Amino acid sequence: MDAKKDFPCLNQKMNGLSPVYLDSACMSLKPQCVIDKMIEYYAQYSGCGGRSAHKFSFRTTDEVTKARENIAVFIGAKKPEQVIFTKNTTESINLVAKSFKFKPTDIVLTTDKEHNSNLVPWMLMDKSNAVKHKTIASKQDGSFDIELFKEMMEKEKNIKMVALNHVSNIDGYKNPIKDIVEIAHDNNAVVLLDGAQSVPHTKIDVERMDIDFLAFSGHKMCGPTGTGVLYGKEELLNELNPFIVGGDTVETVDGDRITFLGIPEKFEAGLQDYAGIIGFGEAARYLSNIGIEKIEKYVNDLNIYLDEKMKSIENVKIIGPADPKKRSGITNAIIDNINSHEIAMYLDEVKNVMVRDGAHCVHSWYNKTKTRASLRASLYLYNDKSDIDAYVDGLKEYIGLVKQENNFAN
Ligand code: ALA
Repeated sequence: MDAKKDFPCLNQKMNGLSPVYLDSACMSLKPQCVIDKMIEYYAQYSGCGGRSAHKFSFRTTDEVTKARENIAVFIGAKKPEQVIFTKNTTESINLVAKSFKFKPTDIVLTTDKEHNSNLVPWMLMDKSNAVKHKTIASKQDGSFDIELFKEMMEKEKNIKMVALNHVSNIDGYKNPIKDIVEIAHDNNAVVLLDGAQSVPHTKIDVERMDIDFLAFSGHKMCGPTGTGVLYGKEELLNELNPFIVGGDTVETVDGDRITFLGIPEKFEAGLQDYAGIIGFGEAARYLSNIGIEKIEKYVNDLNIYLDEKMKSIENVKIIGPADPKKRSGITNAIIDNINSHEIAMYLDEVKNVMVRDGAHCVHSWYNKTKTRASLRASLYLYNDKSDIDAYVDGLKEYIGLVKQENNFAN
């Protein structure tokens, strides 16, 4: 894969060194074509979409329509209207949480490895008695317990929604969605899939996978910040209550009567982030041109290389399945006697190696399992073996320095 050349952030020197970016599970970098597409909007036609009768507005509407179509094709949606633009995965999940017609006795089931974005909304709704929230415990190695899930679904008749991540941002483990969807549907529950970590990395076909709702972000798949999508089955989206309301969500207001537009307008209130949406569409086109299967294989192979190199360091524990092929592009490590924040700072300052440390917005899992803050390297199409070498060499160097200091202190 020769993608590095497409990403201007990587083609610069910082303190004489190239940047090594290993934080794509948090935020991906943007290729030049996405940046150009956004500049084109601002420089050539930066009007509003879907409203005014002039050239700039028509062009904006056309480009937004194209972006919606690109993204619909990218995830295998039947109709572009099923793609609702939001700010990010978090907003997409909040949209469903606030708009789905739950009864207070309904249960929303999540796993115990959910990002705060797919946990806090349900916890708050539980606290206000709008719905009940339950979690299913993962197995010891972080994998999904399908037998326990089946048992819970068959026993607990009030589970209305199963809201879970597709790929975990802690350990890269991919939940067995096909089986989960089948069991959920057999028991009359809908599935809300948090695809923040999967849509950028693995082929998604919402139709074939029979997914009810899918939430994902543009910024993790080479798109602009502040862009996201909620996909839904048409009949389910039509059933949702409006969420954020205002201009362009209504057909008319007459006296005290409001007539809402259909999807997607019903959920896209006010002037939108047109440059962002158009850039997001370009990102989907960019990834499709390379091929998502090719990207997935490339990233998985790199993760195997990273895993091998990590094993050459003493006292490293990798979170999640032992097999790196089951961890997507994520290698999240705890190193004995090493503070993950301090090492992340060292790697950044001395080596230009950028990783993420901490609890990765999954505090519930870190607290429950009494896991220390960890150091996560996450890979994408623009990484290569030299990035991994720089990371692991930096880790070894820092660990050596800490050892030396401890020896002096003793
Ligand atoms: N979900 C993002 C991450 O895991 C923020 O880094």
